[in-house]
Amino acid sequence: MSARVVDVSLMVNGEPVRESVEARKTLVDFLRDDLGLTGSHVGCEHGVCGACTVRLDGAIVRGCLVLAAQCDGARVDTIEGVSDAGEIADLQDAFEKRNALQCGYCTPGMLLTAQALLQHGGVPSREQIREHLSGNYCRCTGYHAIVDAVEAVALARAGASR
Ligand code: FES
Ligand code: FES
Repeated sequence: MSARVVDVSLMVNGEPVRESVEARKTLVDFLRDDLGLTGSHVGCEHGVCGACTVRLDGAIVRGCLVLAAQCDGARVDTIEGVSDAGEIADLQDAFEKRNALQCGYCTPGMLLTAQALLQHGGVPSREQIREHLSGNYCRCTGYHAIVDAVEAVALARAGASR
């Protein structure tokens, strides 16, 4: 039996995309396999680890829990687009300076999730940062340095210091 295919038309990182996709293909597989955007990673494939985090119409979602077919007419932004736009340059810099990554597998998802918290402005507490990042798993760095990096950027953006 051949897989059902649907046509989708969406904006990915500001560029229009028109493709035919298998109806059951996930958004993260579509981004990686069909569009070559491999910055979004695939870990657990069932919504637990956060490695597949992308933005859908401005809100972060798990790319493994959304079907590409559901994104018809939507705007999708991946780590490549957000990074190229310079939106998270300070977060990327802080992660590097504070050794908040080792293998980097979780990092794109961590960065997009952290940015989702910080883009509201203000300086979240370490507790709030931990809570917000709690759906993103890191198997090698440990979370302390990641929280340090996010906190440092929150403070810098607010023009504050502790
Ligand atoms: S791969 Fe999507 S949450 Fe783990
Ligand atoms: S840096 Fe390796 S999983 Fe987080």
